[in-house]
Order: sequence, then C-alpha cells, then structure tokens
Amino acid sequence: MIAFVSMFIAAFLAPEAMAVIGGDLNCTTYNGTAFVYAPAAVACSNTISDASCAVLYPAANTLYPAAGNDAQRAYACYTTATATPAAVVADMKAAALANCPKTCGFCCQTDAYNCRNADYPRLNCATITLSQCNSVAWRSIIASDCPSACGFCLSGGCVDAVTNCGNDLSICQTVGMQDFVNTYCQKTCGRCPSSTTSASSVTTSTGTCTSYIADSSTSCAAWAANGFCSNTFYTLAQRRARCATTCRIC
Ligand SMILES: *[C@@H]1O[C@H](CO)[C@@H](O)[C@H](O)[C@H]1NC(C)=O
Ligand SMILES: *[C@@H]1O[C@H](CO)[C@@H](O)[C@H](O)[C@H]1NC(C)=O
Repeated sequence: MIAFVSMFIAAFLAPEAMAVIGGDLNCTTYNGTAFVYAPAAVACSNTISDASCAVLYPAANTLYPAAGNDAQRAYACYTTATATPAAVVADMKAAALANCPKTCGFCCQTDAYNCRNADYPRLNCATITLSQCNSVAWRSIIASDCPSACGFCLSGGCVDAVTNCGNDLSICQTVGMQDFVNTYCQKTCGRCPSSTTSASSVTTSTGTCTSYIADSSTSCAAWAANGFCSNTFYTLAQRRARCATTCRIC
C-alpha cells in the first residue's frame, strides 16, 4: 500500500519536475510522460547565424531544443520574464521566429511550417523525421498530407521528389528525361498537377462580390505565387480564411 501510494505521489510529482518546456508549448508533442519537441520544432534554419542565435538565446540549461528532448527554451525566445511561469510576450516571440526559430524550437510556427495538414494523413505527421523530409519515397506524400512537418506549406502541395532537380535545369527540356522529371522534378520543371490548369478558374468560381475579407496571413502573396489560390488540396473555405483578398474569394 505504501509502495503504491508513493508510486502515485512520484507519478504525480514527476511531471512537474520534468516538464521543463515552460510557458509556450507550441511545436511540442506529449510522449506519454513529458512534453518534448516535435521534429518540426527544429527542422528549419535560423535566419541569422547559429552562433549569433546561441548568444542571443543561450540554452537555459545546457541543452538546446532538439527533436524528442524537453530542453527548456531560453526565456528570451518567448518572454521578457526571467522565471517560470512566464507569460508569452508577442514581440519577443516574433523576434525569435524571425531570427532564430531553430535555436528556439519554433520552426513549426514559421510560415513554411505553419499550415494545416490533411484531415486523414497517410502517415503520422507528428513523427516525421528530417530524413523522411529528404527522402524520394516520402516527399510527395508528405507535401500533400503533412506539409507542416517538412516546411512544405508554401509549395502548394507539390514538391520535387528528389532534392537536387535545380542543379541542372536543362533536364526539364531534355527529351529523354521527361518521364523522370514528370515524376521527380514536378516543382522545378513546372509539372505540378493543378497549378497550370486551374489558375484561371479561380476568378470564375468565386462569385461576384466587390470586397473581400482581409487576408489573415502575411504570406498570401508568396503562397499565391506557388498556386495556393487554386490548390484543391485546401478547401475553398480554408483558402478564404487565410487569403480571401489575395485569392479574390468572396
Ligand atoms: C502558441 O503560440 C501562440 C502565438 O504565439 C500563443 O498565443 C499560444 O499561447 C501558444 N500555444 C501554446 C499551447 O503554448
Ligand atoms: C519522454 O521524454 C522524456 C524527456 O526527454 C524522457 O525522459 C522520457 O523517457 C520519454 N518517454 C517516452 C515514453 O519516450
């Protein structure tokens, strides 16, 4: 009985002692005992050098955020406070996202990583690894089902299956390479399924209003250039919610 009670107490206390990702739980996932960083938390690159980020955002304990660990973020990543519990201060977080998203474990909230995944993805979006993001076997499936896991949010659901198509753009025109590029270099060679045909249908299918609700994302121009407005991977309601003005959706 005593053993049972102390086990219960230990179980009750343990999460508090171990829950060291404080304040902002974005980009984390619960592993059964603790909140740990999802792979997408650290999948991007910092905008400024890693060395500068390490100075601006020194590790709170010795560890930096990494996939699967529960290292505390530097306070400056999200707050002006210097002790937990610390409220999220929007400006601090915006600065961290703009400069050092990787060091702060906030990659999942940058524009390339911040979008909706498919409702019924063919794989578990939360556990996708960096090697899957670069894998021929996985990239196209991930781009359509779990774009947020690999930073594919701005690619309109279509990516190159191999990562080095851009090394030699002449392959897009080479007669003997067409089967290859149609399969493996869709983005680089402009072979994405919907982007060419449906761009014009957007204007006709969206009604005749004269004003549109405001875009809720600041990335709409970039997304539109990548075919977002006509990408049927997103529902019309989703496109409207994000970029009604840019996409001219009533
Ligand atoms: C995630 O980030 C948003 C915006 O910075 C913040 O408002 C929200 O509280 C965070 N959510 C969690 C679960 O920490
Ligand atoms: C969850 O993460 C914590 C912190 O990294 C680790 O100590 C623990 O073993 C993990 N639990 C499981 C079930 O993976």
